[in-house]
Amino acid sequence: MANNSPIGVFDSGVGGLTVAKAMANLLPRESFIYFGDTAHLPYGDKSPEAILQYSLEIGNFLVDQGAKALVIACNTASAIAYEELVKTLGHKVPVFNVIDPVVEATAVHGHKNVGVIGTRATVLSGAYKKRLLEANSTIEVASMATPLLVPVIEEGLAKSKISTDILAYYLDKPDLQGISALILGCTHYPILHAQIVEYLQGKVEVIDSPLIVAETISQVLDAKNLLADRRYGVHKFFVSDYTETFEIIARQFFGNDLTLEERKI
Ligand code: DGL
Repeated sequence: MANNSPIGVFDSGVGGLTVAKAMANLLPRESFIYFGDTAHLPYGDKSPEAILQYSLEIGNFLVDQGAKALVIACNTASAIAYEELVKTLGHKVPVFNVIDPVVEATAVHGHKNVGVIGTRATVLSGAYKKRLLEANSTIEVASMATPLLVPVIEEGLAKSKISTDILAYYLDKPDLQGISALILGCTHYPILHAQIVEYLQGKVEVIDSPLIVAETISQVLDAKNLLADRRYGVHKFFVSDYTETFEIIARQFFGNDLTLEERKI
């Protein structure tokens, strides 16, 4: 039996659109209902209590809107709020985080020295390190918070000299030397994927998380008979604080037909 309801997706801002875009490319029949919590961005510098509260409110909002599945398209919220979202909403809809599929793919590729970059909250949570070690206890994990990257991306400066300089500042740090794979542990960072690959000159595999996450979600929804059999309705995009700048940047991420609707949480 097909299910033509939308897939609910959320992030603190526009970064989760990298995951929504990968899903839209892979699953063209699906419609999405997206929530960017722009009023509370960045999550990466918030307390776990605040991140949990926002995530639960958004999760409930998306499920109330009729979402058939919930995708936490934010590493910070995945690290802090996944278990609680499964507890409170998992009996209604399948809940996906963006960390587990990436950890599995990295472990399967046989990497032994893995770097993880993400927000402060993600790195402090230790979620990647814990799950990578569960997948393979011999993996050496170097995690580093790279908090300057999200504002640069949200400001639309991803392709500027500023972003190149900031990347060089982080990627040259001793912590990340000797790694064979780098996990972009923040859904904003795939915007910088090409620059990071170029900077690392092919010496390090840069893990493409949106595609990996989209493939996992597709497989699970298929196994649960939850994939749509036709395109039903249009994508909807909500933000908790509307600005024209967010709309312009969101269009660059997802496509020009995107319009943002404000919904306070
Ligand atoms: N996109 C979010 C993530 O994946 C973080 C951005 C933020 O700090 O709000 O962690």
